[in-house]
This record gives sequence, structure tokens and C-alpha cells, in this order.
Amino acid sequence: MNFFLKIFKLLPPELAHSFSLNSLNILYKLKVLELLFNKIEHDEKITFLGMEFNNRLGTAAGLDKNGDYIDSLGALGFGFLEVGTVTPLPQFGNTKPRIFRNYSENSIVNRLGFNNKGVDYLVSNLKKRKYKGILGINIGANKNSDGDERINDYIVCLQKVIQYADYITINISSPNTPNLRDLHNSENLSLLINALNESVKDLGIIKPIFLKISPDESQETMNNIIDNIKNSCFSGIIATNTTIDKSNIKNKKIKSIEGGLSGEPLMDKSTEKLSYIRSISGDMPLIGVGGILSKKDFDRKINAGASLVQVYTGFILKGPSLINEILTS
Ligand SMILES: Cc1cc2nc3c(=O)[nH]c(=O)nc-3n(C[C@H](O)[C@H](O)[C@H](O)COP(=O)(O)O)c2cc1C
Repeated sequence: MNFFLKIFKLLPPELAHSFSLNSLNILYKLKVLELLFNKIEHDEKITFLGMEFNNRLGTAAGLDKNGDYIDSLGALGFGFLEVGTVTPLPQFGNTKPRIFRNYSENSIVNRLGFNNKGVDYLVSNLKKRKYKGILGINIGANKNSDGDERINDYIVCLQKVIQYADYITINISSPNTPNLRDLHNSENLSLLINALNESVKDLGIIKPIFLKISPDESQETMNNIIDNIKNSCFSGIIATNTTIDKSNIKNKKIKSIEGGLSGEPLMDKSTEKLSYIRSISGDMPLIGVGGILSKKDFDRKINAGASLVQVYTGFILKGPSLINEILTS
């Protein structure tokens, strides 16, 4: 895998991303992943919200936006996968370059802007998947949808994906879709919750639904969110998405880039948010994400109140050895 990591570092970030994941797909088809990763004994089965997980470590949204790599990522030993964010219509996202790696500080800044092939394409992949593990589907709104249209986008996606999902994530926290984070505000969130409650009732399918939140919200907003989602169709919270706060970044060039920061510099902030939510939410189910690069980081999320943990940047920077490190040490 070192070979892939070396090539990965030489290529422009987006090309490196698709090159690595396409290589993973080839290794999966050649049954190499099965040989390499099935030997790892790290199952620590848990039942969470009625779902059975082989272990507590999963992929965070964005790694496989369109569900193109479900079987191969599933073969690496993750306890669950989350695909998306997907929107009703396909969209290109922001202009390139839009991913910036900062190796010296174990971080990435991205401003992709929900580039994805649309919900119908994702559904076609969901129908083909062989992966039998737990699968979360993360849904969002198209950039050009406004007001009610934006809320309707979540409903359209929910209706199309719910039957293929073990759980659903409602993503209101990408910093790269203009005004999306306004959905954290009480009034907007209530409108979204009412529409989702209604839709879930009509669909008659009960699946856990998580709200994925931003790490940049005030305590007051967090308090309101917890009040709002109690007694709603939401089961819990995923904390957190990327941050727009780059104050603890040393690299001046990266500091000045617009977008969401992930990886090591996000760890403290996202874990503080997670702990705070645990302290005010009683036993609400929580998934922790943000800044995990080691087993120690993973344990911090669990100790802060997460039942499950997701990785993105750490996996990009360290490769599958991170899964091994977390699950076997
Ligand atoms: C390149 C990139 C793309 C991402 N795309 C999404 C996305 O589509 N939806 C989402 O909810 N989060 C997305 N995220 C956020 C991650 O899921 C995760 O919440 C965040 O990166 C913090 O975790 P990490 O420090 O392990 O990367 C993305 C992150 C990165 C780096």
C-alpha cells in the first residue's frame, strides 16, 4: 500500500482520490482485498439502534459520494460505510482546484460543493452492491435550490434512498453550499424537521435518521438543535463536518484558502462539540467524526460520547493501515 500512498502524493488531489479508489476497485475485483483484509481479526460486534455493526469504525460521507466504491471499501474491514452526500440532480460542484492537502499538518481543505452524479445514479449503484454490512446514506440539497425547494430536495432524496439504507444522514453542515448552514437556525430547522416527519410518516418506513452538524455553531444553537430534534424523526447526531475556522493552521497558504478544514486541526474542536452534545442530550445516539488519525483519537471520540466513529482525512493520508491500527491495537 506504500506504493499507492507515494503515487497518491504526487498526483493532484482529486485525481489521486479517484486513482486510489479505482485501484481499490480493481484489487477488489481481483479478490486481492479479500485475501489481504479478511485475515484481520478485529470484530467487536455491537448493536446500535437495532443495527448490527462488526465494529465501531466507518467511513465518513464524501469519500464515496456516488456509491461507486461500496464493495471495495466494505472489503477493507470497516464496520459501516456512509455514502453521499447526494443531491436530487447531478451537479459539478465548484470550479477546480477545490481540494488542498496540507501534509505537514495532517489536514485537507476542500470546497467541492456537493459534486455528485445525482440520487438516481447512486440508487443504481445501491441496487448492484454486494456489500452486506451497514450502509448509511447522506443526503443534501442542490446548490440552486432555494427556500422550500431546498427542503424538498431532502424529501426527494429520502424517498428515493430510504429502502436501500440502514440509516440516513441529513447533511446541513457543508460550508461549501451557500447558506446551507442556515438550516442550523431554529426556524429553518423546524421547517426541515416538520417536512421530514411528515415524509417519514407517509413512507411508513422507519430507519434511524441522523443530523450531521457543523463544528462552528454556538452553544445556544447547539442547545436549540437538541431541543428541536427531541421527539422528531431524528434518532441522533453526527458531529462534525469540516470547520471554516483555520486559526490553528500554520501554513499561510492553506490558511487563506476558502473551504472546510478537516483532519488533525479539527480534532479538538469537533470533539469538544461532541462532548458538549453528550452533556446536554442525555443518552442520544451520537456518531463522532473529525480529526481521527490514530487509535488514541478514536478512543477520544468514544470517551466523548460517540457510539460509532467515522474517518475521512486520516484514511486519505494514512491509507488502510489506519483501519488496522484502530481496530487491532
Ligand atoms: C474532500 C472532502 C469531501 C467531503 N464531502 C462531504 C460530503 O459530501 N458530505 C458530508 O457530510 N461530509 C463531507 N466531508 C466531511 C467529512 O465527512 C468529515 O465530516 C470531515 O472531513 C471531518 O472528518 P475527518 O477529519 O476525518 O476528515 C468531506 C470531507 C472532505 C475532506
